[in-house]
Amino acid sequence: MGEGVPTSRNDAQLHYVLLICNELTLCFSSRCATKDTVSLKCIECGNRIKVSSRIVGGEAAELGDWPWQVSLHYKSRHVCGASIIARNWIITASHCFFEDDSFRPFNWKVYSGFISQRKLFGATRSSVSRIVTHQGYDSETNDYDVALMKLSRSLEFTGNFSFFPDKVRPACLPTFDQQFPHGTTCMITGFGLTEERAASSSDILLEASVDIISHATCNQRSVYNGKITPRMICAGMLLGGVDSCQGDSGGPLVCKVSGTWYLAGVTSWGIGCARTNKPGVYAQVTQLTDWIFTQMEANSN
Ligand code: ARG
Repeated sequence: MGEGVPTSRNDAQLHYVLLICNELTLCFSSRCATKDTVSLKCIECGNRIKVSSRIVGGEAAELGDWPWQVSLHYKSRHVCGASIIARNWIITASHCFFEDDSFRPFNWKVYSGFISQRKLFGATRSSVSRIVTHQGYDSETNDYDVALMKLSRSLEFTGNFSFFPDKVRPACLPTFDQQFPHGTTCMITGFGLTEERAASSSDILLEASVDIISHATCNQRSVYNGKITPRMICAGMLLGGVDSCQGDSGGPLVCKVSGTWYLAGVTSWGIGCARTNKPGVYAQVTQLTDWIFTQMEANSN
């Protein structure tokens, strides 16, 4: 079990604490899914070694930069992104399961630890044992656009984070009360289209920085006119030019807080890609942590 320091609350107030770590299930109990749960910042998540720098308007990532990013292949083709949150769980979008066959775990393969779809031999390939979509997901409104996939075998997080970069690592889940204030600069990554009209997804992993946009702004008539629910968070550039796009869905919107990357959003939808006043819309992870923990616990064996 990793070490941690409590975020946002005092230990005495807690009924349970949850370590978002390798041995995640050890800390599980049904009460972990209440608002009294606080996740501990764990050294095992949200860290990478290198300090550096379609996604439309993005640039190429390097191996190890976004070690939680995975590519979901459905019937041997990349269709969505996802993020590693535990050794055997990844989080993605519910809309990635778009037809009957897509609810069958054996139609999926999860590739991690790589940055080029043409060089998949270097990747770790995992099979899927369970798919858990959100019962509240609404394909008309995209509300509750989140899903979990359980891997048949746990991933190995081999790198020692103070010495070796690692290619495969989890992102941190935020606490339910963690804020990502508007104006915060965060990062999106993915193998999606590099232009709204592009014919195919990106061979290489791309990254771009985007700003968090408030609900008030995003719900303005000129933007999304009231379509942003509390389970969504907008990020992008109102001027356009930088955005996630088709094929990036399910992938991460991560924000760095004191050196650690937290999963603020799961790529969900947008009107076109990178258009003026049409930023990307992401499932808001802080609003979905209860569901995430409940499902992971319910599907722990
Ligand atoms: N729904 C898209 C997908 O399936 C991702 C949309 C993100 N769009 C945007 N403009 N940010 O890959």
